[in-house]
Parts: sequence; structure tokens; C-alpha cells
Amino acid sequence: MLPVVQNVYPRPLFNESNILDPAGRELTDRSITNQYFQADNLQVLKAWSQTENNPPIKLIYIDPPFMSQIHYRSLKENSGQHAFEDRWQPESYLDMLYPRLRLMREVLAEDGSIFVHVDWHVSHYVHLLLDEIFGAANFINEIVWCYSGGGNSRRHLQRKHDLIFWYGKSPSYTYNPQHRPYTKGTLERGLTAVKGDKYKLAAEGALLQDWWTDINKILSPTAYENFKYPTQKPRQLLNRIIKMASHPGDLVADFFAGSGTTAEVCNELGRPWIMCDNSPLALQTTISRLARADSPPFAIYADSTANKTAPENGNAVSTAKLKMKAITVQENGDDHVWVSLGIDAYQPQELPANRTPEEFASFIEFWEIDPDYNETIFNSRYQLLRPRQQKPGLLPLNILLSLPRRQTYKIAIKVHDIFAGQQIQVLTFSLSASAQK
Ligand SMILES: C[S@@+](CC[C@H](N)C(=O)[O-])C[C@H]1O[C@@H](n2cnc3c(N)ncnc32)[C@H](O)[C@@H]1O
Repeated sequence: MLPVVQNVYPRPLFNESNILDPAGRELTDRSITNQYFQADNLQVLKAWSQTENNPPIKLIYIDPPFMSQIHYRSLKENSGQHAFEDRWQPESYLDMLYPRLRLMREVLAEDGSIFVHVDWHVSHYVHLLLDEIFGAANFINEIVWCYSGGGNSRRHLQRKHDLIFWYGKSPSYTYNPQHRPYTKGTLERGLTAVKGDKYKLAAEGALLQDWWTDINKILSPTAYENFKYPTQKPRQLLNRIIKMASHPGDLVADFFAGSGTTAEVCNELGRPWIMCDNSPLALQTTISRLARADSPPFAIYADSTANKTAPENGNAVSTAKLKMKAITVQENGDDHVWVSLGIDAYQPQELPANRTPEEFASFIEFWEIDPDYNETIFNSRYQLLRPRQQKPGLLPLNILLSLPRRQTYKIAIKVHDIFAGQQIQVLTFSLSASAQK
């Protein structure tokens, strides 16, 4: 299995603040059940399937590349960072998906099920692949997700739906019926048009069909939910799928996790999770997204060969330059000291043309602090983020931490930049004899 390189204990900070509660929940090790793998999912699936006593996975949702022939990049105004590549031939696409789907079937619980989200580019191939791997008898539904939005072709109808194939591993999969509100006409009549007066309207609404028109794509660039990760899916869609096919406490996995939509919804619905993505931008987006959402803690396992900026035993492989301000230490009662931390300068690996190093704060996406670095695993106890608002908020660059009094300190700072690069700096210092008491 891949090594753990980081644990994230969400504690988001949006202001230059004094942090007073070092003995609070964020410095207490809470047990970590949620796992994020930054690696090729084939490697992760192989390892998971070969490891004994892994908990059974009740539900898998995947939203793999669609063979759209697009090179996806960050939708953030000043970034343009590579997200993932979606250029394939049908053969290479199916060669990629087939072994992964086979392994997903293997790691699924006997009473588990899988949702595979695709669109017209590959849906006809993928349906056959799923019949072969899961068995046509285990097909449950083809969900048609309809949405609106831009796109003006003069040569064909607007393509405004995706397909989500739902297969069980066996007939004993979980199905919790979902409902939708009755239409205006039905409510006005107090009866459905088809079933007439023998059928009373149910308080929870009408049973949901296999075509969904009530959830739109994330269209607005300023939507609160929009994390500017290309192809990001709406939370409502995942909310419906997860509620429909699992119970609280069931393990849910997404092996093409993107911006972390599935993880965030799992947290909201009380499902432990496994996420996997090999894109550094996906990991960065997920960390900041889950920190903002005050997620339960999660562990990050990484494959250091997956990309240049992957963290290796807690250290980022990067030539980016981070300069911290000189640390000051002040008394804070008998047991604690105040430690000041501040970023003085930061330069990404490649400074884009027309940008000067003086604008350094605009290159930083967010930063994290491990106040007691152990050289192996980066334990992110604080995440310093821009407040989310319509105009880009200011990033806090200075912080005053109250830490337990010790002889020596090893504090690690990890900066994530808007190009999905990261840089760690470790600050080691000792208290003067008088300050040690
Ligand atoms: C369509 S996006 C998923 C978007 C996601 N559902 C969301 O809501 O943000 C597909 C993701 O699969 C990832 N991916 C593609 N091939 C992969 C592989 N072999 N292993 C792991 N992740 C992969 C890409 O980096 C990309 O983030």
C-alpha cells in the first residue's frame, strides 16, 4: 500500500488571528477513517483488492473521463493549471476503463452497487462493458440526468444530458426509494393526471423516475458551490445517489474523485469514504474544500511517482521558493508561549509572464501548518484560506499560535500555489533558557 504522507484535521482560518485553544479538538488525534489516495486508481484498486480485512465497499460512484477530447484546466481566472487529460481513442479509452471496472467489482461488498457516470461520447461502449463485468442481470437503472446551459450547435440538437449506469454486485443491493415534488398541475388538481381519483397524493411527493430534470449543472462561476474544478458535479446529484444506495455508516468510494464532491456529500450524510485521484489540482481542491466544510479528518496516501509535485514522505518535490518571516516567541502563562508565523515571500516554480514576485500572495491558494512536525507525516492542524465571497477575499499571511511550552519546536508550513504546486518549509527553534522556565 502507499504510505500516508499527510493527515488533515480541518481547522479553517480566514483571518489573521490569534489561536488560543491548542488543547482543543484540533490538537487531539481523532481517529481517521477517511482515506484519500493521490495515485493512479489502478494501483490503488489492485492494492485494495489484495489487502486482507479491508472493509467492504458498499457504494462506488465514478465520474471518469468521458473521451471528450478536451485537456481540462483549472477554471480559476489567474491559474489555467492542468487538471486532467481526456483525449483518447475508443480502444485506449476502453483499455483504461476495463481493468479498473473489473477491480471495482472485486472490491465491492456482495450487497454493494456501482454508479458509472458518462455521456454520449462513450455511454454505448460503457454499457456493454458493464454488462460483461457485472452481468446483464445485475443492471438496475440507466439514469438520465438532464440539465440546461450554454452551447449552440447549428448542426444538431443541444446535447444536454448525461447517463449514469447503476449495477448491483448481486440482487441484494440497497435501494432506498427517493421522491420528487409533484408537478404544479398535480398539486393544483390534488390528483395525478394518470392515476385519477383512486390515488391519493403522498406527503413525500412522487416516486423518483430514472430521468432527473430537477438538478442543474453548476453553471454560475460565482456559485458558492463552484470550486472551479472542470467537470465538477453538483452536490445534490451525489446526495441523491448516496442516499438511494447506502445507509449511514456504509463505506463509499469514488476512484475518479475530482474536486471531492463525493467526499463532501459523504460527510454530510455520515458515510465514511475512500477517494482517489492522480491529479495534483484535484487533491489541492479537495483539501481546501473539505477544510472549509469542517470535514472529519482524513489521511492522504500518495504515490511519489505520480507527478512532480507529489509530496514524498511529507516533503514536496519542488523548486518553488518560500520565505517565512522571523519567528517571535512571547510568554503566554506558565504552560504556553505565543509563536508568530508569517509568510514573507513566495515564488511558484515558474513565474508566469507579466507577473512580478511582489504579487506573491495572489499566487498562494492556501497554506497549512503542522505545529509539531515529525519528519514523516505532515499533520495539517490549521488551514489558512481566503474567505469565499464573490470577489476574491484576502489570504491571511500571519498567525499567532499559542503552543504548549517545550524546549524545542519543529513547525512545518506547507504552501499550495494556484498552479497546484506545493512547498514545505520546516522551522526549528529552541526557547531561550529563561523562556524554558
Ligand atoms: C470527470 S473528473 C471527476 C469530477 C468529480 N466528479 C467532481 O465532482 O469534481 C475525472 C477525474 O478523474 C481523474 N482521473 C483520471 N484518470 C485517473 C486515474 N487513472 N487514476 C486516478 N484518477 C484519475 C482526473 O484527474 C479527474 O479529476
